[in-house]
Amino acid sequence: MTITTEEQLEKLKAIGRICAITRDAMASAMRVGMTTGELDEIGAKLLAEHGARSAPVVTYDFPGATCISVNEEIAHGIPGERVLREGDLVNIDVSAEKDGVFADCGASFVLGEGDKRLDALCRDGKKAMWAGIRVVKAGAPLADIGEAIGKFAKKGGYTLIRNLASHGVGDSLHDEPGEIATWPDKSDRRRMTNGLVFTIEPFLSLGGKMADQKSDDDEWTLVARPSAPCVQYEHTVVATPRGAVVVTLAA
Ligand code: CO
Ligand code: CO
Repeated sequence: MTITTEEQLEKLKAIGRICAITRDAMASAMRVGMTTGELDEIGAKLLAEHGARSAPVVTYDFPGATCISVNEEIAHGIPGERVLREGDLVNIDVSAEKDGVFADCGASFVLGEGDKRLDALCRDGKKAMWAGIRVVKAGAPLADIGEAIGKFAKKGGYTLIRNLASHGVGDSLHDEPGEIATWPDKSDRRRMTNGLVFTIEPFLSLGGKMADQKSDDDEWTLVARPSAPCVQYEHTVVATPRGAVVVTLAA
């Protein structure tokens, strides 16, 4: 989606805020002993209360209102019977549609007291996302984003998952201009056009390089190869001449 009117921007900000509120409410509701299915129900209820529809449901018939990925799972985890434990690394990804406009956001959390390395990974995963957001500017090369994130990851000794890209969003969940590498990719010659709406969602890891299907009987859930802790932070942004406008903020 390319924003050309104030009305479009208002609609995008409205659904962006709903996604962010839902993500944050789910994060605060997480408890040891709760199932991911119960956590998803909280998200489903909030989206419905705000008149929004789950994007993975309407787009892909995904079996859950939100994606909840725990520990070895890094993305597209199906909410269900899995019980949350102390110290779990939990990723909550919320994308939704209202008034025909889609937004997408995600974040990773350590439940309660966990491995200190995971706290550092979360802190730096957020920083990796912001390293990408900071270089957004209408007219700049799209590849600047992956370049900035790659530099940050390398400096910290982290790896990036290189087959889970950021993407255009707005008129649909996965929209023009298609996939955007959140790792260095010199072959990408595209530029950020004014008003372009897309996500920035690096997957920062302690060794993981590729996402792979978890098992043959689960077409959704992705794990890291080689297996290693991984976090994802995601915002939906609009490219403007003055930089990024982040729309998936709760306040
Ligand atoms: Co997402
Ligand atoms: Co996304």
